[in-house]
Amino acid sequence: MTNNKIIIAIDGHSSTGKSTVARRLAKYLGYVYVDTGAMYRAVTLYGMRLGLIDKNHFDKEGLVAILKDINIRFEVNPKTSLAEVVLNDENVSREIRTLKVSSFVSPVATVHEVRAKLVEQQQQMGKNKGIVMDGRDIGTVVFPDARLKLFMTATAKDRAERRYKELLENGDQVTYEDVLKNVVNRDHIDSTRVDSPLRKAEGAIVIDNSNMTLEEQFAHILNLVQEVLECE
Ligand code: DC
Repeated sequence: MTNNKIIIAIDGHSSTGKSTVARRLAKYLGYVYVDTGAMYRAVTLYGMRLGLIDKNHFDKEGLVAILKDINIRFEVNPKTSLAEVVLNDENVSREIRTLKVSSFVSPVATVHEVRAKLVEQQQQMGKNKGIVMDGRDIGTVVFPDARLKLFMTATAKDRAERRYKELLENGDQVTYEDVLKNVVNRDHIDSTRVDSPLRKAEGAIVIDNSNMTLEEQFAHILNLVQEVLECE
């Protein structure tokens, strides 16, 4: 048992608190945390700024053509210890969380070329293991051999309530109804797309956190991690 670091893949529906638990878990284990949703959001923001995506149109070919100009990396903020998203040298961590980006990101995530580029980068990030990665296709596509796979879910109502509070705290002017609509719509697009649809990976453990506190959930997941690590 020289290096028992593993890959932990966390997938699930939007706004299930995947990032919160994944970040905490990575910190506890001394692992790297990667929020892959942030990468799809950064691509979306780039496309929006170039006018390739708006309410009425999505220029898919245009987006594919400029993919080569997009560079995404994570940088740890020494003050908060949080990994922030850097898009072509600009910190976009806050901007990618707006409801506007949320409403355009799912169509962008259906584009094969976008997925191929980001999946390749994600696989590189996990080369040395010791990583907690969350998204929609981590256990199915990015790391199908991950040692521990979790699939997180909760009712749409619970998820929308949590996301609504978060957005208000960030100063985004939104209504609860719009947030709920966005959650339901993203579930639909994410689960029905042709390339890497959201589904529970083989061997993944389902965590329905509708009625769980953050502490209960973390304790439960840590228990699962420790069981796996003991067998390494
Ligand atoms: O986790 P999130 O809400 O930040 O993800 C934003 C969108 O990106 C989500 O609607 C689906 C997509 N996504 C994906 O298709 N594959 C991933 N690995 C991560 C996110």
